[in-house]
Amino acid sequence: MPQNYLVLLAVFAAVAATALYFASARREFRIDARDPAQLARGRDVYEQRCAVCHGQRLEGQPNWRARLPNGRLPAPPHDDTGHTWHHPDEVLFAIVKNGLVPPYAPAGYPSDMPAFGQVLSDEDIRAVLAYIESHWSGEVVRVREEMLAQSRGGRR
Ligand code: HEC
Repeated sequence: MPQNYLVLLAVFAAVAATALYFASARREFRIDARDPAQLARGRDVYEQRCAVCHGQRLEGQPNWRARLPNGRLPAPPHDDTGHTWHHPDEVLFAIVKNGLVPPYAPAGYPSDMPAFGQVLSDEDIRAVLAYIESHWSGEVVRVREEMLAQSRGGRR
């Protein structure tokens, strides 16, 4: 009998360890616009890597909705006036890491948005997204949450 208890205990311990592992992995993946450490790192990354195109104040390039003479789109703003906030965090992460390639753009889509996977760590990418998200108004954050909840429901 006591042996059975030991086996049971071992199983419980394994389950608990797995749950803990995934919980902390998820915490690590988090993009948190209220985390001061993530924001400080994100600001540095933004100023070094993104501001040149997306603007010091996240305002984007002038006339960003109109195509350039070469047919490409200018850099959109990342503040409330742009459409960055229309996308879920996973999509934004993938765009910054891999650039505008499938599945979030058509194959061969010509774009000036670089892929940062070679120069930024996943931590840096999460941090810069947290910095961007910290600029969104309460209203945009609320509408975004509703939109994302709806699209998650729609996919089911
Ligand atoms: C060389 C200029 C350039 C730099 C540097 C740059 N971007 Fe971009 N980015 C663009 C352009 C141009 C687009 C729009 C591309 C398109 O739609 O064809 C874009 C689009 C995006 C989008 C998609 C927005 C949306 O609503 O679809 C995200 C997210 C983004 N950039 C994040 C970043 C981040 C974060 C950085 C810094 C780590 C960065 N970009 C640096 C030019 C740049």
